[in-house]
Amino acid sequence: MEKVVSGIRPTGNLHLGNYFGAVRSFVQMQDEYDCMFFIADWHSLTTHPKPENIQQSARTILAEYLACGIDPQRAPIYVQSDVKETLELYLFLNMNAYLGELERVTTFKEKARKQPDNVNAGLLTYPTLMAADILQHRAAKVPVGKDQEQNMEMARKCARRFNHIYGVDFFPEPQNFYFSEKALKVPGLDGSGKMGKSEGNCIYLRDDDKTITKKVMKAVTDSGPQEPNSQRPEVIENLFTFLRIASSEDTYQYFDEKWNDCTLRYGDLKKQIAADLCAIVAPIRQRIEDYSADTALLDRIAREGADRARESATATLREVRRIVGFR
Ligand code: TRP
Repeated sequence: MEKVVSGIRPTGNLHLGNYFGAVRSFVQMQDEYDCMFFIADWHSLTTHPKPENIQQSARTILAEYLACGIDPQRAPIYVQSDVKETLELYLFLNMNAYLGELERVTTFKEKARKQPDNVNAGLLTYPTLMAADILQHRAAKVPVGKDQEQNMEMARKCARRFNHIYGVDFFPEPQNFYFSEKALKVPGLDGSGKMGKSEGNCIYLRDDDKTITKKVMKAVTDSGPQEPNSQRPEVIENLFTFLRIASSEDTYQYFDEKWNDCTLRYGDLKKQIAADLCAIVAPIRQRIEDYSADTALLDRIAREGADRARESATATLREVRRIVGFR
């Protein structure tokens, strides 16, 4: 089975955009690949989080991923900072990563623009830490979003360069693995095209039924269908996208016909969407609560994940040290 590794930054709670995008793909991938997922808490240090929040953020995201269906038996899930081998590889890779190329990475330029008072070396070498995350497991595939393209290019460069400098064929070049064909893009309910944390328009997996219903009922609409069989404006099409994501085919057909013969009432449509979203979120929310209440279980899962990740990283580092000349 091909090896797959992916990192998740512990930033906030999972929302429906995450769930129907990346997270469900991760869950499906467990069957087809030798997967490993980790929580990138070292990467989160670039923005100087409060010490008292570090452990809690990791536990939060861990509980949410497990609740979504990541099975730690099949796909170990670990916390990045539990596997110190990563740091040694990070150091080796940094010796052959150059200022110019690191400065040209778009995510670096963007962060540097956003936080001009904190353009730290960790930010600059973010891509080499990411490369170490991946290469320590000699992973073949990395499921990432489009925004990670340049970081992935750096990871491949690190692999190629290492192989070239030492005349070995040790690291495979990790390939981007886009789940976007399978993943669904969840629109915002505020008329924007995308549900996202920075857009502030999210339905979270922790939201209760009342909150979800309130958010859906507030969704932006227009004055209603005017002519039979007309094209739907974007805000309305967004609502139909929710039907497609959350509801049955019959339900979609029912509202589609209502739209087409101009008898659609948006209130009914929203009630249906709210009910169907609640049905999806409620059991996940329950599992999040159960996991969150059992920190001993969470810590055990993370520890077992770290043990398996460390085993894989240790084997790689033993070879790397020898290749670099440390005997
Ligand atoms: N940079 C990734 C992101 O922001 C997170 C990440 C860190 C990652 N290390 C990784 C993803 C290794 C894949 C593989 O989403």
